[in-house]
Amino acid sequence: MATKQTKKSAPKAKKVAAKTAAKYGYFDDAKKEYVLTTPATPIKWCNYVGTLNFGGIVDTTGGTLVCKGDPALNRITKYIAQMPCSDFKASTIYIRVKNAKGYTVFSPFVVPTLTKMKKWECHVGLSYMRWIAECEGLRTQVTIFVPTGSNTLLQDIQVTNLDKASKEVDIIPVYEFSHFEAEKQLTNADWVPQTMTLKGHWEKDGHVVLEQYAYMKRDFAVNYVTANCKVGSFDGDRRVFLGANEMGSWAAPLSLANKELSNSECDRGDNIAALMIHAGKIAAGKTFRTCTQLGQEQSLKVASKAIAKYRDLKNVDKAFDELAKFWEKYLSTIQVQTPDAAFNSMVNVHNPRQCHTTKNWSRYLSLYQLGYGTSRGIGYRDSSQDLMGVMSHMPEEALELALNLLSVQRPEGNAMHQYAPLALAEDNGNEANAGDSREKKGVLDENGNPAYADWYGDDHLWIVLTIANYLKETGKMDLLKKEVPFYEAGKKRAQREKGTVLEHLKRSLNFTRTHLGKHGLPLLGFADWNDCMNLPLGAESSFNTGLYAKALLEMMDICEALGDTKSVEMYKGWYEDVKKAFNDSAWDGKWWVRWFDKQGNAYGTNKAKYGKIYCNSQSWSVISGIATGDRAVMGMDSLNKLLNTANGVKSSTPGYRGFDPNVGGISTYPPGAKENGGIFLHTNPWVMIAETILGRGDKAFQYYSQINPAAKNTKLDEFESEPYCYPQNILGDEHKQFGMGRNAWLSGTSSWTYQAATQFIIGVRASFKGLIVNPCIPSSWDGFKVTRKFRGATYEIEVKNPKHVCKGVAEMIVDGKKIDADVAPIFTKGVHKVIVTLG
Ligand code: GLC
Repeated sequence: MATKQTKKSAPKAKKVAAKTAAKYGYFDDAKKEYVLTTPATPIKWCNYVGTLNFGGIVDTTGGTLVCKGDPALNRITKYIAQMPCSDFKASTIYIRVKNAKGYTVFSPFVVPTLTKMKKWECHVGLSYMRWIAECEGLRTQVTIFVPTGSNTLLQDIQVTNLDKASKEVDIIPVYEFSHFEAEKQLTNADWVPQTMTLKGHWEKDGHVVLEQYAYMKRDFAVNYVTANCKVGSFDGDRRVFLGANEMGSWAAPLSLANKELSNSECDRGDNIAALMIHAGKIAAGKTFRTCTQLGQEQSLKVASKAIAKYRDLKNVDKAFDELAKFWEKYLSTIQVQTPDAAFNSMVNVHNPRQCHTTKNWSRYLSLYQLGYGTSRGIGYRDSSQDLMGVMSHMPEEALELALNLLSVQRPEGNAMHQYAPLALAEDNGNEANAGDSREKKGVLDENGNPAYADWYGDDHLWIVLTIANYLKETGKMDLLKKEVPFYEAGKKRAQREKGTVLEHLKRSLNFTRTHLGKHGLPLLGFADWNDCMNLPLGAESSFNTGLYAKALLEMMDICEALGDTKSVEMYKGWYEDVKKAFNDSAWDGKWWVRWFDKQGNAYGTNKAKYGKIYCNSQSWSVISGIATGDRAVMGMDSLNKLLNTANGVKSSTPGYRGFDPNVGGISTYPPGAKENGGIFLHTNPWVMIAETILGRGDKAFQYYSQINPAAKNTKLDEFESEPYCYPQNILGDEHKQFGMGRNAWLSGTSSWTYQAATQFIIGVRASFKGLIVNPCIPSSWDGFKVTRKFRGATYEIEVKNPKHVCKGVAEMIVDGKKIDADVAPIFTKGVHKVIVTLG
């Protein structure tokens, strides 16, 4: 059945014109870059380079936060995110030009010399940053990236003389090191500096390698900095480099007044790596090029291969080309052409790119989630969801992380909340933790029993969706037979109980099935998706109900694909039970309530003063199919009426107006912020998906567009956050700073908005039977095109919308043959034409 909406309600197509002169920068879609034209962004903006294995953050003014394998336990550079934008943060480059009196010094990143530039651009690229700066008659181009699969951060520096006369130029790149345990660097000013060591190793031909480690890592993990060319001198001691016992500053290091640095090594204290590279006299129009390396290996001997490789500039160029090829291939998995430029820009480039970032860093390392301590790490719930955003692009890498997650699932079926990757790899029997629930350990109820759960009601359910996603994408059903250990604290991996992947999934569902509350709804546990609502044990959650029901649907699909009809029937029974329990208890008259506490009081009810209605109970009841008919529509319409704003859907309303110990975390925020009535973006794509299920494509697209950061490029003084990636939250309309975005990059918004856009609006999704094409679009669209790679074949899909409906496949033609459904067959190779007509 086609669902039609009036054309009137269709959003106007918004254009992100390439190179329009916006205040801070513009999208260059052809190069897949966002180009900043000023360093003075409203807040710090950044980009990611490399992967969790080696890489991290590069900010737009040249600060780099590099880690290997684990931001908390193996950090390399000392990036203190709280420092003002104008301050040095772990790295910079000084360019020094000889003049009659001495030297003029500037940084092509602007920070930390704060020199005014004639021209300045920062190109935020796919896993690289590139600056183009003009100052002192020189054009400097700096490109920072990590070659795919390497443990090296390269900094490719090119200085061109734009003047008529030759210029004598020196280039001084600098890094500052952190102790490997990031938190200790900030909290221990005795032990840390005593251990920090830097040595210079001169090579016969004038090259130098600076070797840095905390003493106990000397024989296991050493950091190094070197350049492709000879250097005149170096400094390893910050005090010496800045000069006058640190009365010299990063803005104007006193040592730069001298021809050479002091070759200071550092047996303790603040370790840096500063190299004096003499570019010599650069003739008019000529370019000097050098490339630095910052890496970590077990020893310099092990590093010598990489050092030699990247001292050859041809290999640097090759590595940059390879990176571009990686992204070309990655992004070619799904490419769309729709009438909406901001949608195309996000779906084709920036959103899948952000998904790759969240897949790597979970919620571990951003300018907001600082990667200190091991209590955050890789989140079970977060990463399970992130993986769904990369499943079509890199299913095998996604699976590797999914198997790690399964290995921190308890034999009872619920999961540990998070783990630090290095601690997990070291197998010390104490590698995962139960998250924030530890905070309330020891709080007892009226009968002397623990008042709060030490498990989360949702964690273990997400992974069912993730594994189902993998299976549908790849068809590799054998995965279900693979044995994976369960998590038993204190036991080494080899001693732990094992179960097949299928068994893990069964236990997930069984845990929830055996942890239902008074109304027959899944218990909240310490928290559900909303970390900020921690009601005592016995509370029930509508969100967990929706997620559980959706996980049951996925499990039924898996069992059906396995031909196990008995299990399909069993899970169907569980599904019907919970659906009935939900419908019997959770309907408030116009919307679904969000929680019941252990006494049976409802939260998210019209009767409440604060937190009357919550977003997630409306969306997830539709996504899971437990809300049907009028109630499904009414819930979503109430959401639209009470929670929607021009900047996105709020997670609840009204916000609590002061700390209430009964509800805890949520009321620590002022009204309109984060979970307390803020626009928590992660929940928005669920609203989009629910609307596509109801067939209301205009509404779904409106919800999509109102949070699209690319469409906010002209509103950056309000939004403030990077326009090329989703932030975690936007302040809601109860807050004075309504519209302001925060906590960019690492958010479940990325994976889910990508899923909402590609699988539900564009409507192309993997299934056990083939590739489903069933869009739900704005009625104003005449159609669109999409290319999708699936199981080895490429599907060139064209969707036509002659009747201007939102949803409803009237006809599907695959390679010239009419198909009697909306599923294109599995081909395994070749290019296949799919034409879908809506109506
Ligand atoms: C943060 C957490 C996520 C949680 C959400 C809502 O984004 O990373 O796990 O679901 O907040 O509280």
